[in-house]
Amino acid sequence: MKKCKEKFYITTPIYYPSGKWHLGHCYTTVYGDAIARFKRMEGYDVFYLTGTDEHGQKIEKRAEEAGVSPKEFVDGLVAEIKSLWEKLDVSYDGFIRTTDVCHEKAVQKIFKRLYEQGDIYKSKYKGKYCTPCESFWTESQLINGKCPDCGREVQDAEEESYFFRLSKYAPRVRELLTSTDYLKPESRVNEMVNNFIDAGLEDLAVSRTGFTWGVPVEFDPGHVVYVWVDALSNYITALGYDGETQSDKMKKYWPADLHLMAKEIVRFHSIIWPAMLMALGLPLPKQIVAHGWLQFNGDKMSKSKGNVIDPFELLPRYGKDALRYYLLRAMPFGADGAYTGETFLTRINADLCNDLGNLVRRTMKMNEQYFGGKIVAGTAVAEDGPMIEKINSLYGKVKAEMDVYKPQVALEKIFELIDAANKYIDIAKPWTLNKEGASERLGQVLYVLTEAIRVAGTLLLPFVPSTGEKILASLKMTPPDNNDGLTYGKVEKYETVALDALFPRLDVQKELAAMGVEEEKSPDAKKDKGKKEEKKQMETPEEEGYINIDDFFRTKLKVAEVIACEKVEKADKLLKLTLKVGEETRTVVSGIAKHYTPEETVGKRVVLVSNLKPRPMRGIMSEGMILCASDGDKLVLVSPEAAINSGAEVC
Ligand code: MSP
Repeated sequence: MKKCKEKFYITTPIYYPSGKWHLGHCYTTVYGDAIARFKRMEGYDVFYLTGTDEHGQKIEKRAEEAGVSPKEFVDGLVAEIKSLWEKLDVSYDGFIRTTDVCHEKAVQKIFKRLYEQGDIYKSKYKGKYCTPCESFWTESQLINGKCPDCGREVQDAEEESYFFRLSKYAPRVRELLTSTDYLKPESRVNEMVNNFIDAGLEDLAVSRTGFTWGVPVEFDPGHVVYVWVDALSNYITALGYDGETQSDKMKKYWPADLHLMAKEIVRFHSIIWPAMLMALGLPLPKQIVAHGWLQFNGDKMSKSKGNVIDPFELLPRYGKDALRYYLLRAMPFGADGAYTGETFLTRINADLCNDLGNLVRRTMKMNEQYFGGKIVAGTAVAEDGPMIEKINSLYGKVKAEMDVYKPQVALEKIFELIDAANKYIDIAKPWTLNKEGASERLGQVLYVLTEAIRVAGTLLLPFVPSTGEKILASLKMTPPDNNDGLTYGKVEKYETVALDALFPRLDVQKELAAMGVEEEKSPDAKKDKGKKEEKKQMETPEEEGYINIDDFFRTKLKVAEVIACEKVEKADKLLKLTLKVGEETRTVVSGIAKHYTPEETVGKRVVLVSNLKPRPMRGIMSEGMILCASDGDKLVLVSPEAAINSGAEVC
């Protein structure tokens, strides 16, 4: 694998320093960081930009409430977000503040230039304004009289304003969205074209007069530049663009290879931003990728909704890599993901503590115990073949996913190797081989495992950097600065060291209690469960990470026939299914509406988790759950392979 010298310019949105940071904010930046680190590992000359979006009426108001100047107000919060990124190991190369003097000057120049060339003109604005979103809307764009972005109240607005000729660029922007890969995932393209461009793209009000906390229009200081024109410009002003001249950085890194963001700000990046760049005669970014929302308690995690999880509280308790891993693994590409304390904790326990932690701990312990840590390549036998193939193909698989910005699937691939390595231990049984002494075969088994750990550990570096480093340290290695050597046999001998648990096992009930989440079991039941688990672990020390057959049979699975199905009102992901389960009829609400129409489901036989506690979903009592198989964006229902009566047990 050759080191490439290409540049890669990646950005995340610049954040409003208007209040507390929450876990949802961390998602985009950690996601961007994983991509930036992966590209660096591939030899790209990466520039990863993030920053803060500090102007606007909202911030002016907050500062006033806090009794400080806007600049004092944002300074405190900017320091806080920088410390958050540091705690999360975010390796940004540039941090821009829209209050940076260079940025403000450049925005003034950009505005003036567009005015002088006739792309900005002065007129009168009459319509609606959403203060939290800092967006103007026409009456027809409102949804139920409210802001179409956030659903909040809007105010009448009438003022003299400068306008950007967005309508002039509508055909070119439409072309960009419909005939290139500019916007991903594709589902967003229709939304933008139908709801905004084809609905009639009007010229955009790009100055305000009602407040002063913004970049003043140089030639008309009663106006400040619209906060989104100010904010979007950061992607070029951070490279030294000043409206006219091309800086060296600009020549080197522009156009951006990737603008990463959540779905609610796609409109600005897919319509206004390319139109501004077209007007400036600059090349267009190669791609924008919109991810979904991290949800909590059924809604987008958001400070204004009050449903936030504070990363500053989770970090000291669980560590940066637990948070990074959860965010990167739990969110499917482009779709929303729901946070719960329990899914967070079980993900950490299952993947990081059990699968990864046990593999590394067990292997290093056996290396130490059987060979004093000195492991050398032996002769591979047929039994090693599948493992060697998996080690050799891992980089290609991870790269394929990271090239399309899917860290969740990339991580899945890495954990497939980790899983395979754990199974290989159980099949090869080094402890049995050791009964005949430190044979070449035993050495080879441990060598295969150590190679798997090296390759998986190296590929984990972009996602969980300090864990990757710890794993490599146990092989007495440091992170490589390139992607060479990610195949079997590249290191012929090792001197490994045993290491402490990578992730301590979390007591989910205890942690949930510490998080303020109600305990799920009575103390007695907990005690019993604790005892049982202790016993189980003593009996089968090599089987951590597995469940036993009794655990499995607690879940009652039955075949069910879909006899009716309809959409759930105001929930675009949910279908309400009526199921026949033997003599019984059940109602189940399932999140499959993006993959199946109601008509398609009727008549299908599916697998129902029949003893799941009923719970209300969108006002409908859901009596169980149906099983699906999912792979990235794809999701299919699980069905019996041949005809069988509904009500039949799945066992
Ligand atoms: N300042 C604008 C962006 C300007 S970019 C030129 C802005 N700031 S924000 O602070 O409100 O949000 C920044 C980003 O935080 C969002 O685009 C999104 O990437 C991320 N998120 C905020 N809440 C989120 C979730 N609950 N889930 C996932 N991401 C979320 O918008």
